[in-house]
Amino acid sequence: MIKTDYLVIGSGIAGLTYALRVAHQSKDVNVIIVTKADKSESNTKYAQGGIATVHDLDIDSFEQHIQDTLIAGDGLCNEEVVRMVVEEGPARLQELIDWGVQFDENNIGDFDLGKEGGHSQNRILHHKDITGYEIERALLVMISKTPNIQILEKHYAIDFITEHHLKETNEETLSDITCFGAYVLDKNSNEVKTIVSKITMVASGGSGQAYTTTTNPLIATGDGIGMAYRAKAQIEDVEFVQFHPTALYQVPQESPAFLISEAVRGFGARLRTAKGEFFMKKYDSREELASRDIVARAIDTELKASGDNYVFLDCTHLNYKKFKKHFPNILEKCKSLGIDVRKKWIPVVTAAHYICGGIKVDMDGRTSIKNLYACGECTSTGLHGANRLASNSLLEALVYSQRCFVNSLHTIKNVSFNEEVPEWDTTNTSQNKENILITHGRSSVQKIMSDYVGIVRSNRRLKSAEKRLSVIYEETEELYKESIISVELCELRNLITTAYLICKFSMNRKENKGGFFNKDFS
Ligand code: FAD
Ligand code: SIN
Repeated sequence: MIKTDYLVIGSGIAGLTYALRVAHQSKDVNVIIVTKADKSESNTKYAQGGIATVHDLDIDSFEQHIQDTLIAGDGLCNEEVVRMVVEEGPARLQELIDWGVQFDENNIGDFDLGKEGGHSQNRILHHKDITGYEIERALLVMISKTPNIQILEKHYAIDFITEHHLKETNEETLSDITCFGAYVLDKNSNEVKTIVSKITMVASGGSGQAYTTTTNPLIATGDGIGMAYRAKAQIEDVEFVQFHPTALYQVPQESPAFLISEAVRGFGARLRTAKGEFFMKKYDSREELASRDIVARAIDTELKASGDNYVFLDCTHLNYKKFKKHFPNILEKCKSLGIDVRKKWIPVVTAAHYICGGIKVDMDGRTSIKNLYACGECTSTGLHGANRLASNSLLEALVYSQRCFVNSLHTIKNVSFNEEVPEWDTTNTSQNKENILITHGRSSVQKIMSDYVGIVRSNRRLKSAEKRLSVIYEETEELYKESIISVELCELRNLITTAYLICKFSMNRKENKGGFFNKDFS
């Protein structure tokens, strides 16, 4: 058994900033971060556009950012949360800068502020088109200089430890659930470690891998949502899966799909059909800069009508020198595929990008399970409502990691280690010889979700998806009970759970809002 004051699951922006805050507050506490791949691998690392904050009060205001967020969320945001996040944003951003993150500046030394869909002002701070890479770089340098943080790479959190794992627990009478840490699979040694903590923070990111075409890397398998659901935490709003309008179309499609940042449209790029028609004016007066749900649905409609596989993003009219300065990574990728953006349009498709809901947390990041906090993309804070405003995710993680920190500082004073926690039980398990069930299971889930639970849903498709998912669920649970644990099997379980929840929550939603569209209600 390993004991730590704070156990942090995940090394994206949410997990790293929370760990830094608690570790810097007192040298006497110890913090363990477990992360399932290399320490920088995360959705954060691939963030392109940047972080939305109100920077210059002469041209922008908190009220405008608040209204833009509320409009994008289509009436389902929690306004108190929106106000809090927007207003606390600048202070949190300054801390990120103090930790060494560099943002681009213009010729006169002010921040170079980008624009994205749904924003009424230029307010996106960015580091070229690799903002997330820069954030991970700087935060990991800070972590390496903080001796009371231990970072365990290739360590996969399997489940939270709660009363359900204790021998004497009577499940029927259990009203309050407490988290005592987590079981973690060390991929280096294949042993399951029992990590007992006073405070557990889950910052495990997204679940884009539930779909075939996604901008999310392979690690985004909805683990936090799966673990929380099994531990009986409250989950909400997971039907609001956000599809990004412009992932690069390639044959075969790469996984993850390479993103062409929305900031490119903010810079003036236009969408065209294969015949060259500018189509966005048919859908919204903001055209290319309408919010993401609207642009993604417009592309989906155009593709279904034409039978084409992709539409185009036209950058040929843009100032090439400035484009190159702001988007060197995108330019490089296009070049590598023989696309000279000065002459050729970029083929793009929609791709699963972000989950707006997740583990329900209050304004201090507390889940419905005692001593378990959650932060970042795996949560549902109420900020995004039915559709997240572009570049509000990194902001949300920053603001909430501070709020979780402040609250957990008080909580930890009254928590002691639970010494009764049992070690991981491996009785009656053997090496799985049916790997095909896992690999095939994963691709089947992705196909079901893409075909039936995508941008446009219907009652019939949802019912069909639920039925198919339940077959894979039964098969996988059987395999899980009899197999020696593996990351692939655990990820599949979490993907199935997340997919099932997206499906179920979609069935329960009876009106179209933001990113949720059921054609039976239109
Ligand atoms: P992540 O950054 O995904 O980190 C999760 C961490 O948890 C990872 O280290 C992962 O390995 C680890 N983990 C997961 N499960 C386990 C487990 N079982 N055990 C151990 N470790 C685990 N948002 C913006 O605001 N602006 C942008 O410009 C922007 N661009 C984006 C571009 C792309 C291509 C993508 C994919 C997303 C983008 N987003 C953007 C969204 C944003 O990047 C993410 O929502 C945000 O970074 C999530 O941060 P996080 O810390 O919650 O999760
Ligand atoms: C992008 O750069 O288009 C992604 C921004 C985001 O997801 O907020």
